[in-house]
Amino acid sequence: MKVDVLLGLQWGDEGKGKVVDVLTPRYDLIARFQGGPNAGHSLEFNEIKHVLHTIPSGIFHPDKLNVIGNGVVIDPVIFKKEIESLERLGVDPRKNLVLSKKAHLILPSHRMLDAASEHSKGKAKIGSTLKGIGPTYMDKTGRNGIRIGDIFQASFEEKYRALVEKHQQLAALYDYPSDISDQEKEWFAGLEVIKSFRIEATEYLVNEALRKEERVLAEGAQGTLLDIDFGSYPFVTSSNTVTAGACTGLGIAPNKIGKVYGIFKAYCTRVGSGPFPTELEDSTGDLLRKQGNEFGSTTGRPRRTGWLDLVSLKYSCMINGVTDLILTKADVLSDFDSIMVAVAYRTSEAETSLELPYSLEETIDPQYIELPGWKADITQITSENEFPEELNAYLNFIEEYLELPITLVSVGPNRSQIIERYID
Ligand code: GDP
Ligand code: IMO
Ligand code: MG
Repeated sequence: MKVDVLLGLQWGDEGKGKVVDVLTPRYDLIARFQGGPNAGHSLEFNEIKHVLHTIPSGIFHPDKLNVIGNGVVIDPVIFKKEIESLERLGVDPRKNLVLSKKAHLILPSHRMLDAASEHSKGKAKIGSTLKGIGPTYMDKTGRNGIRIGDIFQASFEEKYRALVEKHQQLAALYDYPSDISDQEKEWFAGLEVIKSFRIEATEYLVNEALRKEERVLAEGAQGTLLDIDFGSYPFVTSSNTVTAGACTGLGIAPNKIGKVYGIFKAYCTRVGSGPFPTELEDSTGDLLRKQGNEFGSTTGRPRRTGWLDLVSLKYSCMINGVTDLILTKADVLSDFDSIMVAVAYRTSEAETSLELPYSLEETIDPQYIELPGWKADITQITSENEFPEELNAYLNFIEEYLELPITLVSVGPNRSQIIERYID
């Protein structure tokens, strides 16, 4: 069997958590491959509304194995809270969650350094979630990091102290307060919770599952435009959010990748700083934010909003090798008389371009096509036969531009609000 991958094509928050939860019954194993608690993946079903940060979105299905891969960075404090909130809902994650020995740990001093770095940047800050993601991946690539497997070594405490000390010296360079003593108790308590889980070389586990013909779904975090290499650098996260990240973040070979589900909203949002060519800083943008309830799942920050951008979507499809598109939040556009879609960029260098320029920070004048809105409540629809004509036209237009099929359309936050297309 091959690994199917589901990942975001925009700036994150495309609805990955919801759709992974919907797709989980079709798989045996769900695996997160990168990112950490900067992610907030929301799930809604029955009366439950839940946000996951580090734990894969298949966790509510007790018969499915969930894996946190080596590419993920884990904060024991947040992990412990996540486990406790699942337990309050009657879920026992010790039964179906496995952690990679090789996943790196986020230390309290990584969080402190994240804040110090953002503080020092002033107005040019990235708008990080301040979860310590950047500093932890820096230590990973700088070969100074601490991995989950290290917890069991006699030298662990010593290693921890040495790294914290190094971070405190760095903080001094930033002239930033570096006392983390009041956060350490909680952090070590979180480590004890981590220790109570299955901790393995998950690369063997995942490859063995494939050998046994089990079905594996890799769940991405963030989105392609936040990728460290291909995103709107430097306003990005610190990991590879693209399909290739699933190979390095789980230990699977490139020829083991099967379907790639590329998920995107019917419009665009971005949280944090950085360029956003189709951003709407007006009442239309406010309406999108209100209708879409666009407030961060992790930080609660209002998300910036704008029209769908097919130029960047096409780029994301190319980088990821997308095979199937998934459109979410179609219901949010129900109040609009007409909907704009960016189909080209006009930049200072080129008259019109269908490619992303080197820097999205330069002035880009998006070229739009106007399509009619559907002006109908679609949240209760259960089959594509009930789609308003204008919604079908919207989907067809996107499919033609991207030369890929939209196989799922989400029409509300609930697990039940999803419509499959192209069913024989
Ligand atoms: P993720 O990070 O990609 O998992 O996405 P988030 O959970 O951060 O943000 C998506 C938000 O939209 C959450 O509040 C979801 O409950 C919600 N959502 C997901 N799909 C839909 C949809 O089709 N319609 C509406 N209205 N909300 C949705
Ligand atoms: P999910 O998985 C949306 C953004 C932050 C900031 C930049 C860098 O829920 O889609 P970081 O904390 O990684 O140093 O922040 O990336 N960001 C996200 N935006 N959804 C996410 O995750 C994000 N994770 C990070 O807002 O602009
Ligand atoms: Mg999110």
